[in-house]
This record gives sequence, C-alpha cells and structure tokens, in this order.
Amino acid sequence: MPHRDRYLFVCTNRREEGHPKGSCAQKGSEAIIKVLKESLLRVGGARAVRACSSSCLDMCETGISIVVEPEHIVYGKVTMDDVEEIAIAAKEGKIVDRLVVARKTDSSKKEPEV
Ligand code: FES
Repeated sequence: MPHRDRYLFVCTNRREEGHPKGSCAQKGSEAIIKVLKESLLRVGGARAVRACSSSCLDMCETGISIVVEPEHIVYGKVTMDDVEEIAIAAKEGKIVDRLVVARKTDSSKKEPEV
C-alpha cells in the first residue's frame, strides 16, 4: 500500500481503573477504531486514508480522541455515531467541524505536562 493522503490516529491508550485521567480505551476507543476501519473500506476510503491506533494523544479530558493528519486537528468526545461521518469526511478531504476540539497552534510556547 502506498503512503496515504490522510491518517486518523485513534487513541487506544488504557489506564488502570480509577486513574483520575481515565483513558480513551475505557471510553470505547478500541471498538471505535475497528468500526472506523470497516467504515473506510465500506465508503471506499481505505486507499486514501489510514486509521491507526495511537497511545495517549494528551487530550484525555476530551477523549475519545482522534488526531487527523495532515490537517493537524483533534476530534474529541468521538462516539460510535460519529464514525461513518468521520470516514466519509476523511475520504473527501474534509473536516467534521462539530467534533474539532483543537487545531494547529504554536507549540513552541509551552511544554506539555508529562
Ligand atoms: S488517553 Fe486518549 S488522549 Fe489520553
């Protein structure tokens, strides 16, 4: 398979039960990426778009999180009901604006917390 036009990085990080940050896996992201891959195939987007599992994207508060590249935006609070729309938009090179919780910023201003 060639390099894709677009990548969807789905956080599948799992933290131990009771961790104050929670995690996207606890919210159901492992099922989300499975269905997202199926949706990309169904809508004919799998050649242009790759959905990949990711570790923590540091957007835990608004998880389930998906980073879209090369647009460099973050979808937050993603649910199963959003998956088909995400797949279609990615195939068409569009963004699902209602799901965007972060956009490209000047990352040189502040170091993230570890
Ligand atoms: S656990 Fe998913 S963004 Fe941190």
